[in-house]
Amino acid sequence: MIIEHENSEKININAFQNDLISWFKREQRDLPWRKDQDPYKVWVSEIMLQQTRVDTVIPYFNRFINLFPTIDDLADADEDKVLKAWEGLGYYSRVRNLQSAVKEVREKYNGEVPNTPKQIAELKGVGPYTAGAILSIAYGIPEPAVDGNVMRVLSRILSIWDDIAKPSSRKIFEKAVRDLISHDDPSSFNQALMELGALICTPTSPSCLLCPVREHCKAFFDGVQEELPVKTKKTKTRDVQLAAAVLRKQDGKILIHKRPAKGLLANLWEFPNVELHHSLQNEREEVVQLFNQELQLEANFEKIIGQIEHVFSHLIWNIKVYKGTISTDFQENEEWKLVSIKEMEQYAFPVSYQKMFQMYLESLEE
Ligand code: ADE
Repeated sequence: MIIEHENSEKININAFQNDLISWFKREQRDLPWRKDQDPYKVWVSEIMLQQTRVDTVIPYFNRFINLFPTIDDLADADEDKVLKAWEGLGYYSRVRNLQSAVKEVREKYNGEVPNTPKQIAELKGVGPYTAGAILSIAYGIPEPAVDGNVMRVLSRILSIWDDIAKPSSRKIFEKAVRDLISHDDPSSFNQALMELGALICTPTSPSCLLCPVREHCKAFFDGVQEELPVKTKKTKTRDVQLAAAVLRKQDGKILIHKRPAKGLLANLWEFPNVELHHSLQNEREEVVQLFNQELQLEANFEKIIGQIEHVFSHLIWNIKVYKGTISTDFQENEEWKLVSIKEMEQYAFPVSYQKMFQMYLESLEE
């Protein structure tokens, strides 16, 4: 069948599907979530793969599935353990939502991941991309799974010049997938688009000469593959200046704090810190004062042991790292704990605070 796509030249759909899927079957990477079609594992992998590279995800996926092999195991797990298993992957609301959603699957659907677009899209944290990925990969249902990579690939094949940074553009690409997707093998078709985006049709310098669907690619024909996709820049990120301290008590235990249950890095642990709203004259003393006023800590700072920058999607943290001591009568509670260096392993920290802890350990060797 040949269709004329709104945005494209004629494309021979059957030949396109065959070229794409046979390439995928030959060349696909051996990835742990491709060993079976268990909807739960597909779901976990797709959540991890949002915003995180395949190479990074592989060891996390293996560990996570070892710890929580089934929906029941994840539903029953302590949130702290689940966050610990996610430590370093970032975007932690992904895993909190995943855990809420598997609880819902257990309660509402008897532990079976639903297989209708409507039911699956109602689950917490399951957006249109994840819904389409699970439906197609685990259940063989011809639904689109459109993420940034798939938009890049299709913008080139079909020569689509809509701005992929605009949320409204996703619908255009979903329509394109509905026109093109193989009904015999939707799973391979969607995964092949993802694989093509990862291995061949890369953001810069795509390897068109190796591309299995080059003959079908309008952008290649027109020589504009490097101009697509159209993607406007996001608004600027905000800079936040922080001062944080590893504070130890006389017995060597160090003070950690649980972040609030809502907002950035919710429920993860951190070292006590304050935001610096303006540049300070006499920095160390003023930071100590802020610690005492805002955190009600009787802290004593010894020295700066480093500086950390951490870039989030909308924010940059610049953290000045201190070490020091706190008074002997500090009392622990739910939010504030004193832990030994060994016990630190049991708590999930954002990457920036893991780096800070390394700085502290190195400072002890000096
Ligand atoms: N990126 C998103 N989903 C993927 C998958 N299932 N395999 C490889 N890369 C992906």
